[in-house]
Amino acid sequence: MEGSTLSTTGLVVDRGLEGVVVGTTQLSNVEGKIGRLTYRGYDIDDLAPNATFEEVAHLLLFGHLPTQAELDAFSRELGTRRMLPEPLISAIRRVPKTAWPMDVLRTVVSGLALFSPTNTRGEHVSDVHTAIELIAKMPTILAFWDRLRRDLEPIEPRTDLSQAANFLYMRTGSVPSDVEARALDTYLVLLADHSYNASTFSARVTASTRADIYAATVSALATLEGDLHGGAASAAYNTLVEVGQPERAETYVRQVLARGEKIMGMGHREYKVRDPRARHLEKMAEKLSEYKGDRHWYAIARSLEDASNKVLQEAKPDKKIYANVDFYTAPVLADLGMPGDEFTCMFACGRMAGWAGHILEQLADNRLIRPQATYSGPPPGPYVPIAER
Ligand code: COA
Repeated sequence: MEGSTLSTTGLVVDRGLEGVVVGTTQLSNVEGKIGRLTYRGYDIDDLAPNATFEEVAHLLLFGHLPTQAELDAFSRELGTRRMLPEPLISAIRRVPKTAWPMDVLRTVVSGLALFSPTNTRGEHVSDVHTAIELIAKMPTILAFWDRLRRDLEPIEPRTDLSQAANFLYMRTGSVPSDVEARALDTYLVLLADHSYNASTFSARVTASTRADIYAATVSALATLEGDLHGGAASAAYNTLVEVGQPERAETYVRQVLARGEKIMGMGHREYKVRDPRARHLEKMAEKLSEYKGDRHWYAIARSLEDASNKVLQEAKPDKKIYANVDFYTAPVLADLGMPGDEFTCMFACGRMAGWAGHILEQLADNRLIRPQATYSGPPPGPYVPIAER
């Protein structure tokens, strides 16, 4: 295993916890060798073309796919919880327009705790309703910030639209077409959960100290940001911009590898085949490009994946590096009109459903998560008085 070494004390040190099992979950299962992802036993190959994000969020939070009556009630609750408290809207208005979108999202999500009811001990209630609140409000924060940074007035959320359609409506002021709404909906379904990935693990570590759902969500958001995790979506978009045209893809890949860098959106700790989510996102990217009559982003992505597969196969034949979920996120969200630096925030809007499910699962059967490290510093020695140093 890539990250395992034997310490001086004879203990196995698993850098990056690769291959280490630290807990159980009923939420999702990643089968990296065969490229299968299931949410509570349902294959994403079935969910992506058939289920809505609302159905999947219900599945993750309540343990079963909703009946029509349950789905109506769940969607109603999501709709009515979308609006932000007025002081937070005023705060977002004061944020410098140059701010990084993930900084805005993380900070405002943290601010939501200030307006959340507490129990007699002064603690926020970490239950399914607070989870729905967070799922409902995250896209509103992003859409409000997206408009304010473009010098446009925020548009209030609607209660009658789906999460996906409402987000696109809040960005543009027009109800999106079915093709656009379904593309974003499918994206949210595919991003909803992924077992003990880094941000979910962070959320569980925080929840395991008995911190509340807001604190655990802020941990998750902070962990998602890096480009080895959710930040790869924005980085993959920058790659498409840099490549510029499909014919340049192979040269670009060779140059990146020659510099010892990585191709963003390629490779995965768990999947040693193409990420199963990439297949659905690629279909969506192609469909959107046909709908728009503009194949620009899709064509570059397609050509870049082919070039990466070819060159990585030559350069690192034993590594099994294929497209991951972030790769085709880039053309899908770009064709939906979103700026590249907001892609990681959109990832968070989908993953909030999984984070919430994991936080509640952790709290329901908790044990403090506290691993060990092997000390590698100097041996014990006498304290040296300051005059003698
Ligand atoms: N491009 C080029 N080489 C890559 C690569 C990529 N995208 N991903 C992995 N590799 C190579 C590494 O350079 C390393 O090669 P070496 O052993 O010759 O040095 C080898 O594959 C192992 O990579 P490593 O980063 O140690 O594996 P990991 O299990 O930690 O990798 C990722 C998982 C996701 C961190 C890694 O694939 C990556 O950084 N991908 C790009 C970022 C990305 O898309 N992240 C989103 C993940 S969903």
